[in-house]
Amino acid sequence: MKPFHNRPILLILLSILATTSSARDTITPTQPLEDNETLVSSGSHFALGFFTPTASNNRYLGLWYYKITEQTILWVANRDKPVIGSTGRLSITSGGALMITDNMSSVVWSVNSTGLSDPVAQLLDTGNFVVKEGEDRSTGTYAWQGFDHPTDTILPGMMVGLDRRTGRNSTVTSWKSDNDPSLGSYYGFMDSRGVPEMYLYLGTQKIWRSGAWNGVRLSGSPDTATNQFFSFRFLMNDREVTYWYVTPNDSVVSRIVVNQTGVVQRDVWLWESSQWSNFWYAPEDPCDNYGHCGPYGACDPNSSPACKCLLPAAFAPKNPVNWGLREGSDGCVRKTRLDCRNGTDGFLRVGNVKLPESANGTEDTSLNLDECKAKCLMDCSCTAYASANISGGGSGCIVWFSELMDIRLYVGDGQDLYVRVAAADIVSPKPSQKSRNMMVVVLAIFFSGILLLACIGCFLWRRKKMRRGAGGNDLDLPLFEFSTIAASTEQFSEENKLGEGGFGPVYKGTLKSGQEIAVKRLSKTSFQGLEEFKNEVVLIAKLQHRNLVRLHGCCIKEEERMLIYEYMPNKSLDFFLFGKEKAILLDWQKRFQIIIGVARGLLYLHQDSRFRIIHRDLKAGNVLLDKEMNPKISDFGMARILMGDETDYNTRKIVGTYGYMSPEYAMDGIFSVKSDVFSFGVLVLETVSGKKNRGAYSHSHHINLLSHTWSLWKEGKSMQLVDESISYSYPMATDEVLRCIKLGLLCVQEKPEDRPLMSSVILMLGSDIASLPQPKQPGFAIRSDPLETEPSSRKQHSSDVNDLTVTMPEGR
Ligand SMILES: *[C@@H]1O[C@H](CO)[C@@H](O)[C@H](O)[C@H]1NC(C)=O
Ligand SMILES: *[C@@H]1O[C@H](CO)[C@@H](O)[C@H](O)[C@H]1NC(C)=O
Ligand SMILES: *[C@@H]1O[C@H](CO)[C@@H](O)[C@H](O)[C@H]1NC(C)=O
Ligand SMILES: *[C@@H]1O[C@H](CO)[C@@H](O)[C@H](O)[C@H]1NC(C)=O
Ligand SMILES: *[C@@H]1O[C@H](CO)[C@@H](O)[C@H](O)[C@H]1NC(C)=O
Ligand SMILES: *[C@@H]1O[C@H](CO)[C@@H](O)[C@H](O)[C@H]1NC(C)=O
Ligand SMILES: *[C@@H]1O[C@H](CO)[C@@H](O)[C@H](O)[C@H]1NC(C)=O
Ligand SMILES: *[C@@H]1O[C@H](CO)[C@@H](O)[C@H](O)[C@H]1NC(C)=O
Ligand SMILES: *[C@@H]1O[C@H](CO)[C@@H](O)[C@H](O)[C@H]1NC(C)=O
Repeated sequence: MKPFHNRPILLILLSILATTSSARDTITPTQPLEDNETLVSSGSHFALGFFTPTASNNRYLGLWYYKITEQTILWVANRDKPVIGSTGRLSITSGGALMITDNMSSVVWSVNSTGLSDPVAQLLDTGNFVVKEGEDRSTGTYAWQGFDHPTDTILPGMMVGLDRRTGRNSTVTSWKSDNDPSLGSYYGFMDSRGVPEMYLYLGTQKIWRSGAWNGVRLSGSPDTATNQFFSFRFLMNDREVTYWYVTPNDSVVSRIVVNQTGVVQRDVWLWESSQWSNFWYAPEDPCDNYGHCGPYGACDPNSSPACKCLLPAAFAPKNPVNWGLREGSDGCVRKTRLDCRNGTDGFLRVGNVKLPESANGTEDTSLNLDECKAKCLMDCSCTAYASANISGGGSGCIVWFSELMDIRLYVGDGQDLYVRVAAADIVSPKPSQKSRNMMVVVLAIFFSGILLLACIGCFLWRRKKMRRGAGGNDLDLPLFEFSTIAASTEQFSEENKLGEGGFGPVYKGTLKSGQEIAVKRLSKTSFQGLEEFKNEVVLIAKLQHRNLVRLHGCCIKEEERMLIYEYMPNKSLDFFLFGKEKAILLDWQKRFQIIIGVARGLLYLHQDSRFRIIHRDLKAGNVLLDKEMNPKISDFGMARILMGDETDYNTRKIVGTYGYMSPEYAMDGIFSVKSDVFSFGVLVLETVSGKKNRGAYSHSHHINLLSHTWSLWKEGKSMQLVDESISYSYPMATDEVLRCIKLGLLCVQEKPEDRPLMSSVILMLGSDIASLPQPKQPGFAIRSDPLETEPSSRKQHSSDVNDLTVTMPEGR
């Protein structure tokens, strides 16, 4: 350096040369890597050198992307033993041992390869750091490679799994924390027993499993199917069982990380915005948690409760009490024991599942599905079978020899599982139409009997009540003292009045404990009172869902009857939707969340609760909003439980609200879950438009919100429907808005059979608009006129004027 001492420009040039020349990718016994140097791979994709994690003084040897400015550490050599200070050095001995030394004397980390005459360590452009023979230009055979010893990250091309020749058994372990790369609590590896799959563990506890490779994807990770960024591969032979993935080209930068919170995440680097984008992660929902619903349980994330027995005909909850409390991990047990010897067992198919844990299963690629079935039937301990490779129509065979564990349902990304059940549990085919009719008659007689008994019971109950005054221990629900309620509402003062419902005023109350309540006081004049009251009490007491309003108890004093609900500070949805100033507070995101919430609540009523319940009076006024604007369906006064096989019900008494009633109900008194779906559709369109169905556009009954939406839809001008007060919020979610409009139209179709069930509605809310069917013409419930006698029926009830809830006897 001396000769150039007074020639700074040359010096700079030289130092540039020096850094460039230090960007080598190899170390040799004579050229170790000092703390202040980095290796850069030949294509400049990766760099290797010493780094210091944020908020730490320790030095570690690590690997990161050379071109990505945000240093992302992908591999750490000495993760458990840092170098203190900047004296670290990576060197390779002439015997082939790769080591990090602290300060000449102490070895911090080392790996040993023997039998190399001219060893070098090289950083390859794949991110693999290898030790090999210096002359050896061939790839693939290395004395040692970093890819066999991952830290917390799996890179493209990294072979993960078991290699019996090299003893490889890759384990990916999370960092302890953001600034400490030492071994964390979560680790993933491949369990090669049975049918190989990846597991995530916390200590000895299984957290998640990927499911086995089925030729298309990992059975428990739908996102592992090939896409533009990734393609998964699987290799299994006598010597190795390996998973790996590749990217289409070098400009796609992706990684899979086991992070400190126990999440396996797959990220892609976005060059345009210079940031990582999460592409997929697991566990994603409770159903991903290993064994969430126990043996023979099936977890369905779209239903509530999520745990079901695999086949309700053949399995029942093992611990019904816990099961009822939504704790499903005890799983289910067979109703009838398998009867192997007599050869009478059969199989039932469960569709769209993540295949059960298969460590005790075996795979045979040479069998087809029929041979697979035969194989399973022959072995008494075989519990199920499935196709091993679903690509190309299905081939190969997996059979299980233990309890079926950790099964979940998917919407469209699962596969078929054939579960062995005793002959007695195989449901006989559907009864013929004739015998169905017979059954309906029998059931009708049976239930009218029950109804009669119930009425007598009611009558007696009521008399007893009247004699005893306050009291009523026969209801399984807290009874509040009248004086308590009167005090909490300041003697039912006008200031505490929240509104006027279908059957009387509603008050806000504050109990001594400070708890706020809503008190629904049934008007004494309402001749429907007692029956509706009891109906509501008994029903809601048994319903629990986050989108249904909770009943705390009731209060009975002589003729006075009250229902005590949880208090909803934000009143009801109509208050926001149809009040001009308030409408602005409900931006599109909130509206969408409300639609989803109401759909969930309704699905629960229709399918998931212990009863099948038709609400019959769903409307904006009956959707209450909590502090966070989560919707809760209220007012079950007119709900009906469907019995047994019933799908619809014919009534002489038409109840409900103009504008929300389906045509078949308004005209013929037939109600079914599809009448609720109709009301839901109206609600959706009202939520999007901020307009009431009734009286929206004109006082002519022939032009209501439904017909208006329909004509805009046909003209392709649906966006004009959207409430102007939220126009500032919807442009970012036009697809959601259009999806909701289309969905709303599907729900209000004239024919009940055309309308979707709530379970489909939930799915549609999350799907692409193109996958929704084309709606047909809506049913205009108020177009023709059996209900145009509104003024006369109004006299019977003291109700709010616009959203009149009617209860009118139909003369027939
Ligand atoms: C790195 O540090 C060593 C001493 O540890 C020194 O001799 C060398 O010049 C430094 N190299 C660079 C590029 O700074
Ligand atoms: C090596 O480093 C350690 C810790 O920094 C220090 O205590 C020790 O004296 C050093 N040894 C030598 C030989 O420099
Ligand atoms: C490498 O292995 C040999 C033989 O197993 C052992 O004697 C030597 O100490 C090892 N070297 C390192 C650096 O671990
Ligand atoms: C692979 O490693 C995991 C965890 O470290 C261990 O549980 C498993 O038994 C190992 N598999 C084999 C075949 O050694
Ligand atoms: C690399 O692949 C991505 C995703 O498939 C593609 O968008 C991009 O154009 C490709 N780049 C090159 C250089 O081929
Ligand atoms: C782990 O990954 C999940 C999903 O990408 C993310 O939400 C979480 O913040 C991550 N945890 C850490 C500590 O990075
Ligand atoms: C097999 O069937 C016979 C007659 O149907 C019955 O007596 C016997 O108990 C059955 N065996 C088993 C194991 O259930
Ligand atoms: C496999 O079978 C053995 C013996 O029947 C049992 O103890 C073990 O729990 C089973 N493992 C799994 C994962 O089902
Ligand atoms: C699955 O089947 C497809 C089509 O038959 C075949 O191409 C593929 O190799 C199979 N995969 C495995 C893992 O057997």
